[in-house]
Amino acid sequence: MATHQAVLIAGDGIGPEVTAAVRRTLAAVETPVEWIEHRAGIAALETGDDVLPDETLEAIGRYGVALKGPCTTPVGEGFTSVNVQLRKRLKLYAAVRPVRNLEGVPTRFDGVDTIIIRENTEGLYSGIENQITDDAVMSMKVATESACERIARWSFRFATRRQRKKITVFHKANIMKMTDGLFLRCARQIHQQEYPNIEYREVIIDAGCMKLVQDPTQFDILLLENLYGDVVSDLYAGLVGGLGVVPGANYGDEQAVFEAVHGSAPDIAGKGIANPLALLMSAVMMLNHLADTRNDESCRTAADRIKGAYDRALKDGKKTGDLGGDLGTEAFADAVIERL
Ligand code: NAI
Repeated sequence: MATHQAVLIAGDGIGPEVTAAVRRTLAAVETPVEWIEHRAGIAALETGDDVLPDETLEAIGRYGVALKGPCTTPVGEGFTSVNVQLRKRLKLYAAVRPVRNLEGVPTRFDGVDTIIIRENTEGLYSGIENQITDDAVMSMKVATESACERIARWSFRFATRRQRKKITVFHKANIMKMTDGLFLRCARQIHQQEYPNIEYREVIIDAGCMKLVQDPTQFDILLLENLYGDVVSDLYAGLVGGLGVVPGANYGDEQAVFEAVHGSAPDIAGKGIANPLALLMSAVMMLNHLADTRNDESCRTAADRIKGAYDRALKDGKKTGDLGGDLGTEAFADAVIERL
């Protein structure tokens, strides 16, 4: 059996707990993955390293894939987000977050099956902030034609490969005429010139948010600039059961880093109650990515077995507290492993 090396970053907060549970589940299906452990964020700082050590970046560059736990970012002060740095430095420009209903997790809506694609490298995440006067600070929203075109083309290609029918862009180009205007123009152009068979819609984001809480099943793929993608991902997560059930992937042309949408959840860290499912689902995305890019069907088999097992566990009422159940992190992993 081929072995694939993948970087594992446990992160901090609930990161080490959910990562350990996921690692144990993957080991139980004899997944052909050898983990190469590296640090980032507070875990790296605590060992005297940089917040994003060069070795961690080099390892992801070398092995091409990583599974990452969440990393805390200090609010209003302190170091720049490790997550943002990682995405920018490795040019992981496309964040993909599939949001679906899960059987056994009752929510307000049925039939939600939307893929959020978030531009991951620019917008208000440029990190360019200045003190303008004693009274005024400024944050710069950056849009480049190359990055807007790149994410639009990637999204339409992704839609075609996944046999998805419709892409909707949420924007605020009525106010941010230049930045969001450029994002829209690029998406429109790629649609018209390269992918006219995919349906394409533009919705102003405030109205879009209202539409999606009224009926999230109307959206197939949502294409969003960085900050809108961040906010709408959590909003959508809330419609299908919360942050414990939404996985994610950050793709570039050379590397891919898989991580849940949720953060380090300091309010429940260390209690053994965090839901490891979102990271487990991200690991399933990683295995499918390995199957696709390295032509290794054993990765697909492992992914299918894990997915089948967590679906059965949820159907049997085996759930963590965030989903209304009474299992802790490890007990949920046990329930999945029993059903593999
Ligand atoms: P958060 O996602 O960590 O938590 C929001 C709420 O959801 C909390 O009540 C938390 O307990 C709950 N929650 C999150 N994940 C859960 C899980 N797996 N199981 C059960 N409950 C879960 O968001 P918050 O509080 O805004 O951010 C905390 C820290 O995480 C911040 O420092 C932030 O910058 C960082 N963060 C890191 C991300 C990453 O590493 N990719 C992504 C988002 C936030």
